[in-house]
Amino acid sequence: MNFIKFKLKSNNALDNCHNYYDFRKLAKKRIPSPIFHYIDGAAEDEVTYNRNASAYNDVDLIPNVLRGVENIDLSTTIFGKKLDLPFFCSPTALQRLFHHDGERAVAKAAKKMNTMFGVSTLSTIPVEELSEIDTPKLFQFYYHKDSGLNDVVLEKARLAKFDVLALTVDTIVAGNRERDLRTGFKSPPELSLGTLFEYARKPRWGLNYTFRKKFELPLIKDHVEGLSDVSMSISSYFSNFLDQSMNWDDAERLRSKWGGHFALKGVMSAEDAKRAIDIGCTGIIISNHGGRQLDGSRSSFDQLQEIVDAVEGKIDIIIDGGIHRGTHMLKALSLGAKAVSGGRLYLYALAAAGEKGVEKALNIYKTELERDMKLMGVTKLSDLNKNNLRFRT
Ligand code: LAC
Repeated sequence: MNFIKFKLKSNNALDNCHNYYDFRKLAKKRIPSPIFHYIDGAAEDEVTYNRNASAYNDVDLIPNVLRGVENIDLSTTIFGKKLDLPFFCSPTALQRLFHHDGERAVAKAAKKMNTMFGVSTLSTIPVEELSEIDTPKLFQFYYHKDSGLNDVVLEKARLAKFDVLALTVDTIVAGNRERDLRTGFKSPPELSLGTLFEYARKPRWGLNYTFRKKFELPLIKDHVEGLSDVSMSISSYFSNFLDQSMNWDDAERLRSKWGGHFALKGVMSAEDAKRAIDIGCTGIIISNHGGRQLDGSRSSFDQLQEIVDAVEGKIDIIIDGGIHRGTHMLKALSLGAKAVSGGRLYLYALAAAGEKGVEKALNIYKTELERDMKLMGVTKLSDLNKNNLRFRT
């Protein structure tokens, strides 16, 4: 007698997430729409945001065969730290709005994978707590008008044993994020007649937000009014509190005060990349802030080649923006990036399922990358180079 074998379809939504896009869909289902659009959205017509991703499709991979590829080594060294993976979690703000465990969940998942995680000045978990999670860490520094606040934040990052300080250089004013204007997104969320319905539609999120530990931004809450206790848009925060007079001398002074590995996050020109070397940076992050700042800015991947040529291997080059797949990583690494990173790369997964979600997402990217390396006929990252690529004309 023949039995038909069948398996009940899993009702665990996380089991049905197989790639970046699945996590995005699940996040959309699980968190209130103003918060989803804060993560998902970008500046103005979102041209840069879209190009960040589509630029990777204008380049093709040229595989080689018969190379013996059973053992793949994905490790890389950036800022003097060896990572098992050439991708990591970019620092992003306000993470406990997305999932009640916030940065803690991301840090734990990064540790399991032995990769780096970034923490923003606008973190929602105290850095003291994150310092206990033993994996390489990058601190994202926002340069405020209040020099007292800058000093306190720098000292806290030092005490929390961050391995790298990355100064954000692409948010001198906030980008024009029209989705946030439409949804009325603020931190902490402001319930008004316009937004109440959207928050009420996600009761599970609402219960976690209301009954878990109070939402706050520990690094800034005692210094500025906004984002922590007083509802404010990111745009107003940047305009009111960040220092628009910040220049190269300030960056150099900060680097010297910090004394350790130092990067500029948000470099897009070869000229600035060279200047970063001159002021003693040990790395740069090529980034247009996920298309959230200057719409119409070139995509990070389109700029990679000319920056790699200008830097001549003197400092580490990291790239973020538009990376959704192992093949995207492979293309950036082939052009000369030492590592890649991303915010949305793990934020949808965080919003969808907390630590488990982030861990699953990172594992998926690892599996994709390993498979892609095998199909390319390479076993280690140093085998990758631009001969692997052809740009479409
Ligand atoms: C943003 C900042 C906070 O893009 O990084 O919203």
